[in-house]
Amino acid sequence: MDAIVAVYADWGIGDGGTQPVVLKADRAHFRELTKGAAVIVGRRTLGDFPGGKPLKGRDNLVVTRQDIEIPGARVVHSTEEALAAAAEYERCLVIGGASIYRQFFPHINRVFITKIDLTPHSDSFFPNLDEDPAWVCTESGPWLEEDGLRYQFCTYERV
Ligand SMILES: NC(=O)c1ccc[n+]([C@@H]2O[C@H](COP(=O)([O-])OP(=O)(O)OC[C@H]3O[C@@H](n4cnc5c(N)ncnc54)[C@H](OP(=O)(O)O)[C@@H]3O)[C@@H](O)[C@H]2O)c1
Repeated sequence: MDAIVAVYADWGIGDGGTQPVVLKADRAHFRELTKGAAVIVGRRTLGDFPGGKPLKGRDNLVVTRQDIEIPGARVVHSTEEALAAAAEYERCLVIGGASIYRQFFPHINRVFITKIDLTPHSDSFFPNLDEDPAWVCTESGPWLEEDGLRYQFCTYERV
């Protein structure tokens, strides 16, 4: 399974339930890579989407322990249930947040990472794959710039 994440220079990914710095180019990249696919998303991260609504054009598998219905999404209550549901789709990406990346990590073999060259305060982190010998960076694009901020699209794969 694949995952997609934007990390700051310290591999931070969010603070207070949201992303402190978001790039338009990264949003577009995310849309492009996830369109038409299923996405596994934690209920907290869903709450940070515009209007707290599922993403259009993707099959949203929302992970929650609550007995709730979410219009436009398929609700699952455990990692096992999410993995079983994901198997029904041709493509499925884990899209966060931190607790979801952590719990699905053993099932993830490829990660699309946007590296943002800035270190705002984060309370949520993605594992630092540069320090993990089980992972290798197989693609790293050129450093690009948006509003004076440097960013880079990379792909990491499990060795
Ligand atoms: N930089 C990026 O690319 C990126 C991407 C996504 C998110 N983020 C950031 O990540 C942060 C959010 O991460 P988070 O860890 O706080 O929240 P999260 O992973 O998005 O969601 C946590 C919620 O998921 C549900 N959940 C988790 N594990 C479960 C399990 N095993 N079974 C059933 N339900 C389960 C629970 O929902 P209930 O409470 O409803 O039971 C839990 O409260 C935010 O700062 C966000 O901006 C960053």
